[in-house]
Amino acid sequence: MSGGPQIITLRRPDDWHLHLRDGAMLDTVLPYSADCFGRAIIMPNLVPPVTDTAMALAYRERITRALPEGASFQPLMTGYLTDQTDADEIERGYGSGVLAAMKLYPAGATTHSDAGVTDMGRVGGVLARMEKIGMPLLVHGEVVGDDVDVFDREAVFIERVLAPTLQSFAGLKVVLEHVTTAEGVAFVRDGAATIGATITAHHLMINRNALFAGGIRPHMYCLPVAKRERHRLALRQAATSGEACFFLGTDSAPHPASDKESACGCAGIFSAPAAIGLYAQVFEEEGAIEHLEAFASLNGPRFYGLPANEDTITLERRPWPVPERLAAGPDEIIPFAAGEDVAWRVVEE
Ligand code: NCD
Ligand code: ZN
Repeated sequence: MSGGPQIITLRRPDDWHLHLRDGAMLDTVLPYSADCFGRAIIMPNLVPPVTDTAMALAYRERITRALPEGASFQPLMTGYLTDQTDADEIERGYGSGVLAAMKLYPAGATTHSDAGVTDMGRVGGVLARMEKIGMPLLVHGEVVGDDVDVFDREAVFIERVLAPTLQSFAGLKVVLEHVTTAEGVAFVRDGAATIGATITAHHLMINRNALFAGGIRPHMYCLPVAKRERHRLALRQAATSGEACFFLGTDSAPHPASDKESACGCAGIFSAPAAIGLYAQVFEEEGAIEHLEAFASLNGPRFYGLPANEDTITLERRPWPVPERLAAGPDEIIPFAAGEDVAWRVVEE
């Protein structure tokens, strides 16, 4: 591996799926993303959720105030779709440039999704409006309910919910967020140019065995949960192919360690500190480092109809250890790959 390039320069990447939280947690985690990424799509699953334009604007201001001096990071805000979302309201939010997209959480599917959509029939009017104005729908693609095995929830969602939705709203722009299955990859690849998917670094690196390696591993637990090895391999092939429909979205989702190391630990993997280095490592392992820029810096903006970033970042092949833990106010966060070496680091310019 070390026979390959030692330095890579690419257009500054963006993170098309990111949880920044609020308050002390926001202060702790934001610099890791702002250091490397030019923009990020900010998830709206706060408590209470960011359901309208005014809340998104207020949250954007809190993020901007928390930015380190001189950072040029741009948060792209999303609204949390509920059964009550008002089509006129979000059209105004999209038109004014505050809302970049709406996020669909099926109610009960993941962390802070209780206010999510209970039945797609209830949001038909909103989806029709989004289709008309070109506003993207970002999808947490898992069905809920005990009748479906947790490892099958994405594949079943595609069959029962996503495919029928796209039949009714063929022009709707949709991102299947944090795709985790071969079925998801195939669906997006075979779909129209209006369908894309984000892929996380951790789903490229771990399969479901990582959750049980020598004992239960709460810091490897996220939703959608990591799947079998064949799915990880399909994700690696998709991400490193350079195909326009696949782009970078870390789903970096910090939680206090005590909430994860519990009898009912919550879902979410915090990958921001090492994210771009982890992706670079995967692309290098797949012999596809020349496609990293498409995945990290070009495909996402093209999908969202935005220009690629003008400036660049440089990565150097020099291993560095991911911190074991980070302080966030009174809490601690354990990052993904804590204490392990990542092969690539961002060179300060
Ligand atoms: C996310 C979170 O913690 O907000 N958790 C996760 O496991 N990915 C929610 C989400 O994106 O599903
Ligand atoms: Zn997420």
